[in-house]
Amino acid sequence: MTTHGQAIRQSPVIRGAIDAIVDEIRSKTADLVDIRPPQPGLVTSYDELVKAAGDTRGWPLLYPMLGSGAGNGVFVELADGSVKWDLVAGIGVHFFGHSNPTIVRAQLEASLDDTVKHGNLQSGTLPYEFAKRFVKLAGRKSPLKYAYLTTSGAMANECALRICMQKRSPGHRVLAFENCFMGRSLVMTSIGDNAAARDGLPVNTAVDYIPFWSDAEAARIGKTKHIDAVLRRLDEVVARYPNGHACFVMELVQGEGGFNVPPREFLEELMKACKRYGIPVWDDEIQSFGRTTQMFAFEHYDLGQYVDVFCVGKMTHSCAALWTEEMKPKPGLLSGTFTGSSVDFTVGLTVLDQLENGGFYGENGVFAQHHAAFRAQAEALIAKHPEWFPKTDEVTSGLGGVGGMMRLTPFGGAKEKIMAAAKAIYAEGAITFWCGHGPYHLRLLPPLPVLKLEHWPRIFEVIERGLAKAA
Ligand SMILES: Cc1ncc(COP(=O)(O)O)c(C=O)c1O
Repeated sequence: MTTHGQAIRQSPVIRGAIDAIVDEIRSKTADLVDIRPPQPGLVTSYDELVKAAGDTRGWPLLYPMLGSGAGNGVFVELADGSVKWDLVAGIGVHFFGHSNPTIVRAQLEASLDDTVKHGNLQSGTLPYEFAKRFVKLAGRKSPLKYAYLTTSGAMANECALRICMQKRSPGHRVLAFENCFMGRSLVMTSIGDNAAARDGLPVNTAVDYIPFWSDAEAARIGKTKHIDAVLRRLDEVVARYPNGHACFVMELVQGEGGFNVPPREFLEELMKACKRYGIPVWDDEIQSFGRTTQMFAFEHYDLGQYVDVFCVGKMTHSCAALWTEEMKPKPGLLSGTFTGSSVDFTVGLTVLDQLENGGFYGENGVFAQHHAAFRAQAEALIAKHPEWFPKTDEVTSGLGGVGGMMRLTPFGGAKEKIMAAAKAIYAEGAITFWCGHGPYHLRLLPPLPVLKLEHWPRIFEVIERGLAKAA
């Protein structure tokens, strides 16, 4: 017995058509293996498209970048026919690169569904298949047990916050790290430590900021004193508002805040303190998931046992909030029209498959090898141009990061110079971005699964040319 839905998905005609489309895209993009300048005949119309895009929203695009709809792995083609190294991949969303046959196939599978979106009221099986799979992976090394799906990271965070606030009511204050980023809703901009993102907006959530790990501070006063000072701050704030906190939200590796990678003890001491105080630990892995030396950052740090609430997004395409048995919200707290589009889940499931089975993680995994190759290139560049990489009180190294979160810190981390460097590197043929709140860093979130180790020297040639211009 089969349903019509199964019959469609198993139809030899449809399977053959999908194979044909995947093969055709693969062959049409196979020659995109290096950067290219724009095609002269397309430049004028492209400039108009870029201007129109900026005019539509009222301010110009940060990069004059509009994709053509094709690429090949780490190479992206723009609508003017130019080709660039995509080293930031939509802040990590396109972690599996461009025109990836496996992802294209998953997109085509999604198009077979009778509707585009699934909802909380009416749904097919796909969202629950994704959620079940994700919970199973998260549950390998943590007590996380349930998931609610959302269409953005900010909304996953909203759900996580509501779960924490309901559990700890009337304690509604939030503990958060300095320089954290949470997303762009009204509440998340209240918590996120970025004044520009809430310019003119009411601050609607009471937040107590705790300093994040600082390599520079640890170098100044020593690791133990640094950790003790941060713990004392936590004690002071908790004593000021007894039972007043709903949660401590933590990015285990900070993303927007500057790819700051703390040592395990720093996070563990804070998490232990939260347990003593009965304050739920909320792990926001929207940027770091999939990218460290393990699938989950809490696995990388072996801290899963402390996690009460968790959020994921970006590379999984479907976003989610997860929680433990103890944190279970009352029915009615979480709902909404959409859980997501079919394509979020077919692609999301494919992403999870690849992350689980791709040989990416561990000390000798593919990502560790890429990180080592990045560091080798970065060290060689710093040795060649030490004048571009001055040390300052706050910049103790010209490079940093973990796994697929990589940063370079030229020009003492000065904001204007870093932005100019990213733009110059873009003009030379590679898309990077920046992060940090001072010092600033050049940020790389490359599509590691489709990157080749032999790409690194070629990538650094482009970076070097861009830095030379910015210097
Ligand atoms: C750590 C973190 N949390 C939340 C978000 C918000 O996710 P979204 O932009 O999908 O709303 C981001 C996005 O950059 C993030 O890095």
